[in-house]
Amino acid sequence: MTEKTAIVTGAARGIGLATTQLFLEEGRRVAMIDRDADALLAAARDLDNVLPMVCDVSDPNQVDRMLGEVQKEFKRLDALVNNAGVADFGPIGETSFEQWRAVMATNLDGVFLCSQGAAPALIESKGAIVNIASISGLRASTLRVAYGTSKAGVIHLTQQQAAEWGEFGVRANCVAPGPVDTKLALAVHTPEIRAAYHDAIPLNRYGVEREIAEVIVFLCSDKASYVTGQVLAVDGGFESTGVGLPALRT
Ligand SMILES: NC(=O)c1ccc[n+]([C@@H]2O[C@H](COP(=O)([O-])OP(=O)(O)OC[C@H]3O[C@@H](n4cnc5c(N)ncnc54)[C@H](O)[C@@H]3O)[C@@H](O)[C@H]2O)c1
Repeated sequence: MTEKTAIVTGAARGIGLATTQLFLEEGRRVAMIDRDADALLAAARDLDNVLPMVCDVSDPNQVDRMLGEVQKEFKRLDALVNNAGVADFGPIGETSFEQWRAVMATNLDGVFLCSQGAAPALIESKGAIVNIASISGLRASTLRVAYGTSKAGVIHLTQQQAAEWGEFGVRANCVAPGPVDTKLALAVHTPEIRAAYHDAIPLNRYGVEREIAEVIVFLCSDKASYVTGQVLAVDGGFESTGVGLPALRT
């Protein structure tokens, strides 16, 4: 049987790297995509069966070139994980248009571009797309005007993809992580934010990268063959409850 393949964007570290490792354990070949060349090559150095490719997912020309190379090398594409993302938190009044555009460019334009470009190959294999949103796309909160709005867009974009590509056998689902201890979270979560998350999360902790990767890999697998258009919060229960008020804790 031909080896199954996957593209993972933002694969140099964090959730993308954990997803790459899990796909490899399951016997897939993985195209690791990232715009941080040094981090990408360092991450790929010790891994077999990977194709590291430097690409900024917000740039249509780079995405075209990257998808062409992956297709040439792999000959088939079974899964696309749109994971590359950036966070930039700030009040609405202090968010510049440049900051807004930079977040939208990676978080939303990137998902659109990679998915549109990969669609013919995914249709051929009846493959799967998993887009990484965030609980910030499910619930509004302060300081996340750009980030939260971009992730809400990712959720709707996923549903559009499921609606249009379902008849061709392509599934599209969305994973909405809660807070996970990665460089991205470290950059924007102050000690106060960390404490507040602990209060609001029934499991009372941040997630780890592998816990998000497990769900992504499941949604890409045949075990999820009748699941499409869904948003799965992998968030320790944050989205589902209101127990987080400190005064309501025993
Ligand atoms: N860590 C969290 O708490 C958390 C919570 C919810 C959602 N998420 C989402 O999960 C995804 C992964 O986050 P993470 O915490 O692993 O982040 P991270 O910052 O550790 O890793 C993100 C990777 O994406 C790459 N990247 C960023 N912009 C890119 C671009 N335009 N083109 C190509 N590569 C690019 C970075 O170089 C980096 O290697 C993101 O979409 C993020 O929004 C993370």
